[in-house]
Amino acid sequence: MRITPTADFMLEPILEPNKDAGASRDAIGLGQAAGKGLNTRHGTILTLEDISVSFDGFKALNDLNLYIGVGELRCIIGPNGAGKTTLMDVITGKTRPTHGKAWFGETLDLTQMSEVRIAQAGIGRKFQKPTVFEALSVFENLELAQKTDKSVWASLRAKLSGEQKERIDEVLETIRLTASVERQAGLLSHGQKQFLEIGMLLMQDPQLLLLDEPVAGMTDAETEFTAELFKRLAGKHSLMVVEHDMGFVGSIADHVTVLHQGSVLAEGSLEQVQENERVIEVYLGR
Ligand SMILES: Nc1ncnc2c1ncn2[C@@H]1O[C@H](COP(=O)(O)OP(=O)(O)OP(=O)(O)O)[C@@H](O)[C@H]1O
Ligand SMILES: [Mg+2]
Repeated sequence: MRITPTADFMLEPILEPNKDAGASRDAIGLGQAAGKGLNTRHGTILTLEDISVSFDGFKALNDLNLYIGVGELRCIIGPNGAGKTTLMDVITGKTRPTHGKAWFGETLDLTQMSEVRIAQAGIGRKFQKPTVFEALSVFENLELAQKTDKSVWASLRAKLSGEQKERIDEVLETIRLTASVERQAGLLSHGQKQFLEIGMLLMQDPQLLLLDEPVAGMTDAETEFTAELFKRLAGKHSLMVVEHDMGFVGSIADHVTVLHQGSVLAEGSLEQVQENERVIEVYLGR
């Protein structure tokens, strides 16, 4: 499903500071249910306001404002070192901001939650390098992902309910690995490992998925399938995708945010940001 921007999103200044997290914002969500009782009354799943991160005085994020709507598929682009990965680190609790607000839904303050709590609350993250259990089968990897709080071997020995098996089958189909269900994960192609890892995230049914350079190293066919997959996941989940591959961004993006030196430089449709002089200067035109 495509979202048609209804307003001029070339933001300059970016956004009005918002004292009441999310309350007065119309996010660009599709309005689908966020599930799991997360309060997204105002259609915003993620609210970041005035977020700064300093590393020994260097500002990796600098008063950043960003709002993601429920069910939205947002692409984040920008030059190397712009702060894209740091942004994901803040959302997942890996890095604490020096100041600023970070809300998941209306009520969960991400700056006060541990990484584990944030994951449990429904934020899933995929790092660039696939991290599957190479020695285990595709099925076992998904099975493990379903049960977070038991040891590996206890989880594998426990009997699965019919419902759990159904969920695994469903995810296998989504990531197109049904035919490889018994295959050892270490024998999959790079792209298939990436899909398996996305499948492992989906087992947790996250409301917000963060994906850092998901198509790096993929074949054209795998990249195309990833685009199809993300478009299918949007609506049911909210997605934040960091990617340098502009062809890929063009094939999925409804709404693009350009980061530069730790702040939002421009926001809008890909066409809009591609025409922005400053974006061309710092990123696209090089
Ligand atoms: N732990 C850290 N300590 C010191 N500096 C850091 C740390 N993490 C990131 N930085 C710096 O912060 C800036 C932003 O880094 P970040 O990794 O977020 O960029 P990025 O937009 O993801 O870049 P890329 O496109 O290359 O992945 C960079 O200048 C980086 O060197
Ligand atoms: Mg990065």
